[in-house]
Amino acid sequence: MTKKTLAFASGSLHKWKEMQMLLSPYGYDVILPKDLGISFAPDETENSFTGNSFIKSKELFRLTNIPSFADDSGISVPALGGEPGVYSARYGGPGLTDKERALFLLQKLGENPNREAYYSCVVSYVDGKNEVSFDGRVEGIIASDYDDEGHYGFGYDPIFIYPPFGKRFSQVPESEKNKVSHRKKAMKLFLDWLSHLK
Ligand code: IMP
Repeated sequence: MTKKTLAFASGSLHKWKEMQMLLSPYGYDVILPKDLGISFAPDETENSFTGNSFIKSKELFRLTNIPSFADDSGISVPALGGEPGVYSARYGGPGLTDKERALFLLQKLGENPNREAYYSCVVSYVDGKNEVSFDGRVEGIIASDYDDEGHYGFGYDPIFIYPPFGKRFSQVPESEKNKVSHRKKAMKLFLDWLSHLK
């Protein structure tokens, strides 16, 4: 069977690998904008994950006419009014490292006893006929300090405790995190939907 092609609106090889692994069993080949010689960096100007995800998938479909999907994700802390949310990658200003952003969040939250947080991911898909999106979420707790010991994860994982594991995401191997993550949940809904696409 010849594989169908999906364009993934991302510049990340790491994410491409993960998506290719998930989609290949369903008969799809995933390509990136750079595989088509396209330099792709649309401004993410919306104030929701869904809005920003669609900015990317729609723009890629417009440029390629190939069925396109995108993801957009971040961490939200209700005690901070939902911050950093869609600003997760830029929280605290430009030029900070992942660690500096996580420390900035810890400092903003201070001693606040409400330490609930959740990661969200919205996967959107556009093919000229369909425009759909799928939400995944994983709930956790913001720790009181930054974990320098854990070897895993990225971004806010060293301060994100996942209660069912009793550990931070920086302390669980990717294979474990990927079973419960926001991205995995959104992708599972997308894959279920794709498998019924005529
Ligand atoms: P993007 O959707 O890949 O651009 O991710 C947005 C930002 O959200 C990242 O730069 C991270 O700061 C944060 N983020 C999203 N998912 C995760 C995760 O699984 N672990 C840690 N940080 C994450």
